[in-house]
Amino acid sequence: MTPIIECRGVQKWYAGVHALKNINLAVQRGEVVGLVGDNGAGKSTLIKILSGVHQPEAGAVLIEGRPVVLRSPKVAMRLGIETIYQTNSMVPTMSIARNLFLGREPISLGIGGIGLLDQARMRRESVQAIADVDLHLRSPDALVGELSGGQRQGVAIARAMHFKSKVLVLDEPTNHLSVKETNKVLGFIRGLKPQGVTGIFISHNIHHVFECCDRIVAMARGEIVFDSPVGGTNIDHIHDLL
Ligand SMILES: Nc1ncnc2c1ncn2[C@@H]1O[C@H](COP(=O)(O)OP(=O)(O)O)[C@@H](O)[C@H]1O
Ligand SMILES: [Mg+2]
Repeated sequence: MTPIIECRGVQKWYAGVHALKNINLAVQRGEVVGLVGDNGAGKSTLIKILSGVHQPEAGAVLIEGRPVVLRSPKVAMRLGIETIYQTNSMVPTMSIARNLFLGREPISLGIGGIGLLDQARMRRESVQAIADVDLHLRSPDALVGELSGGQRQGVAIARAMHFKSKVLVLDEPTNHLSVKETNKVLGFIRGLKPQGVTGIFISHNIHHVFECCDRIVAMARGEIVFDSPVGGTNIDHIHDLL
């Protein structure tokens, strides 16, 4: 099968630091991969390459078998790669509905052919998108600033699902969340697979990865040092590797 996303021989340097050394990673459609590793292993650098924030010095990224140049986050998003960071990119002073459509607002034609934001459509579709990830929020008009951290991550995941992202990358999305909120976010991640969405979930908590991923990839010092289905390994083994 052609992988939905693949890195071939990816290398990245920051000044003197060789942050990624010949990374080869292929992810299949609908697979949820947990990426683990100590601080400084290169996890964030790898996902920044996949999300168009950084460009590799060598190697290639392929989407559905085709080499792509992820020149910017916008280009990556247009190609179906959506990234959620620990502090996500929502505007607290805007409503849930507006945040869901941020940068992708539907326009309707007003009197005289003037383009207007289609508020009704944004409200309607955001209610549906949020219900689809099993997130229960009072109203699409509530301000994102009033939501908890876990709810905000839920809205970010709903946004990615609504726009039919091919690959959802989550870099430490549960950092700074309470246990209850963390469980909620892990539930959202478990919900990706039944919907056929591919996920790459970065976490320093190996237990969380075992709870919601199919496959575990471990990095150390800029290299992939382990890659196995979750069923083929165990938490102690991964701990010993890192
Ligand atoms: N913007 C940067 N400038 C210089 N060095 C960086 C930068 N970002 C990361 N690094 C270095 O690259 C290596 C990998 O970092 P990173 O990808 O953030 O690892 P991880 O996410 O696994 O903790 C580390 O040695 C880190 O110090
Ligand atoms: Mg990181």
